[in-house]
Amino acid sequence: MGAAGALVVYRFQMDENSSPLRWLGDRLEMLDQRLLPRRIDWISFTDAASVASAITTMVVRGAPAIGVAAAYGLALEARLAVMRGTPVRDALVPAAEILRRSRPTAVNLAWAVDRMMRAFDGLESLEPAAIAERLAAEACAIHAEDIEGNKRMGAFGAGLLPASSTVLTHCNAGALATGGYGTALGVIRAARDAGKTIAVFADETRPYLQGSRLTAWELQRDGIDVTVITDSMAGHFFSKGTFDAVIVGADRIAANGDAANKIGTYAVAVLANAHGVPFYVAAPLSTIDPDCATGAAIPIEERSANEVVETRGIGPDGKAASVVTAPDGVRVRHPAFDVTPARLITAIVTERGVLRPPYDAAIAALFQEKR
Ligand code: MRU
Repeated sequence: MGAAGALVVYRFQMDENSSPLRWLGDRLEMLDQRLLPRRIDWISFTDAASVASAITTMVVRGAPAIGVAAAYGLALEARLAVMRGTPVRDALVPAAEILRRSRPTAVNLAWAVDRMMRAFDGLESLEPAAIAERLAAEACAIHAEDIEGNKRMGAFGAGLLPASSTVLTHCNAGALATGGYGTALGVIRAARDAGKTIAVFADETRPYLQGSRLTAWELQRDGIDVTVITDSMAGHFFSKGTFDAVIVGADRIAANGDAANKIGTYAVAVLANAHGVPFYVAAPLSTIDPDCATGAAIPIEERSANEVVETRGIGPDGKAASVVTAPDGVRVRHPAFDVTPARLITAIVTERGVLRPPYDAAIAALFQEKR
């Protein structure tokens, strides 16, 4: 820890391919995921409100990644308070609220904000500069633990995939959606690294296209065989026996194992079930919300109608462009997530092992052990 009054720079930086976030001690850099796959642009952040706005506008997305970003947002805010000479608590309390509200479904966000605020409660007797340094170190620890947890999850999950298999995934649960390495895609990476031959089908994931823009991009860069299909093609490939397994991430898992994930996941789970294909969810403990008894209690984000009636992309000039695909004024709904009931989930892969039904007992045991 540095002397009181002087801010020490803690750096946490992963290889560009592996993490969408870089902590540079006095600022946070985030890969602008809205511009992928065309452009690799990093944006700098120095305060919590702009980190919260980046979470809302999807510069950064994916449950664990937004949690890590929020933790860094609070570290930045503490740093600003030290530089302004104002009480750290006065800066952190409203910043925590803004970050917590930036997206509603993924519980990792509230989990990370709560962990940072608990750390702060234990530090309040220190000099402000020391508090800011310790909060930066705590955010870096959250980031590093997420990556380590994903690697452990990968090792547990790799054993579930046959030696030569074709796997369907939905949305993006890869390095881009996490601190690094990925949850569902981490399992695929670990299986490949263990010598298995894995081919991936990526649902394009309408309307935001995380599957075609992000999953295809990161798997291609990692040398993993990937094929993009539209969401509506999945049933056809199930009927042809193409898939050996489905693996997806999650944004919030209820105490009974019901899992919220990107809209369209439930339809994939129903198809998997109808065709006898195992349906796996890979998620860290920070995604499990023991305070949500069932999936019915999980808040589902409703996003803008524009994302449904306009297809957004990046033109060859590298600039965002959109085309209108529905008549002006038409009524639109846009729930961004759905809930897959626990009965459709074959197993939940966590960094502490593979959970099998009944999930209420498995999850309760996990949280009991943790205490
Ligand atoms: O709206 P997004 O892109 O944040 O949704 C992301 C997902 O639904 C992911 O599947 C989920 O967060 C798991 S990420 C490891």
